[in-house]
Amino acid sequence: MSARRVYLDYNASTPIDPAVSAAMQPLLADHYGNPSSEHWAAAPAKAALEAARGQVATLLRCRTEEIVFTGGGSEANNLALKGAFFAHRDKGDHIITTRIEHPAVIEPCRFLEHLGARVTYLPVDGAGRVDPDDLRRAMTPRTILVSIMHANNEVGTIEPIEDCSRLARAHGVLFHTDAAQSVGKIPTDVNQLDVDLLSVAGHKLYAPKGIGALFVRDGLSIEPLIHGAGHEGGRRAGTESALLAVGLGKACELASDLVPMDRLRGLRDRFWQALQVQFGNRVVLNGHPTHRLPNTLNVSFVGRIGSEILARLDGVAASTGSACHSGRIELSPVLAAMDIAPEVGMGAIRFSLGRGTTGDDIDMVVERLGDLLATAR
Ligand SMILES: Cc1ncc(COP(=O)(O)O)c(C=O)c1O
Repeated sequence: MSARRVYLDYNASTPIDPAVSAAMQPLLADHYGNPSSEHWAAAPAKAALEAARGQVATLLRCRTEEIVFTGGGSEANNLALKGAFFAHRDKGDHIITTRIEHPAVIEPCRFLEHLGARVTYLPVDGAGRVDPDDLRRAMTPRTILVSIMHANNEVGTIEPIEDCSRLARAHGVLFHTDAAQSVGKIPTDVNQLDVDLLSVAGHKLYAPKGIGALFVRDGLSIEPLIHGAGHEGGRRAGTESALLAVGLGKACELASDLVPMDRLRGLRDRFWQALQVQFGNRVVLNGHPTHRLPNTLNVSFVGRIGSEILARLDGVAASTGSACHSGRIELSPVLAAMDIAPEVGMGAIRFSLGRGTTGDDIDMVVERLGDLLATAR
């Protein structure tokens, strides 16, 4: 008999919320017009696209025109980094980011280094947090852009964005944050965070894959990555998918209610307590104990290999390191940057909870882990 399936990998991707797929239906069925056309067939698609843009803007508390739809979180990050660098390289060539960014930030930075950019990768502490003083020290007159993620995908640590963006603003430097993991889990008000650019990934918040958005503060010019007709205010050419945009818009509307996060935080904490009872000091929490996404529990089973545990936890979907680059038995760059000892870090498993997670799921996983690690000892 196959084991009961439990999905605890919501940071890798979420299912599409039924209300999101319902909102997309009219676009699938009827509204096929090109949103840029001027006739009757275009009108409903255009209206749906702009309503969706408004929903994203409402969640981020910005203006509708400040939202650029993209093909996902990676594209939003690429557009922010390359777009800002290309548009502002006359002012300088220095970018500051962190060692724990997602590859969708690290790799564009590496690419820009080939084009002459100088990039500083800030360290983090043992909980995965950047020290704003390190940022202050890294600033030079040539710095044009700072990119620090809002919350880390692997360990869930929330970065001190306001402190860092204030510093950037004081130096007249642009500030980008990758909010792929934080949107829908914690408040993401672009004015409170005081950022110039913020990336959203649809499939992390119950919208389909292949859609995302970049907030670009009014008046800030960025070079498009895709040149063509003047879609998205000249910032991203290509006929928009009103279908996917509507999915993201509806998902953002649903995400504005953060109350359900209390339930997930409660389940997550119950999970952690149960693991501590079961394993004592053989289990270690990775990430910040309090400044952490409410759905994320990254734990290390000391002296074990996380991927081997997961392979034997039949039916349980979770992740070692990040799902985007799993499958390799080496300490993830994030845990390495946190200076986690290899015998601890190799035993890391990220459990990430979401709307479908129940108390029964958690109890069952704790019990199965208990059985597995008792017999494997
Ligand atoms: C922090 C972070 N940034 C960016 C991305 C990339 O987003 P997408 O998969 O939509 O390209 C991810 C996805 O894992 C992520 O976790």
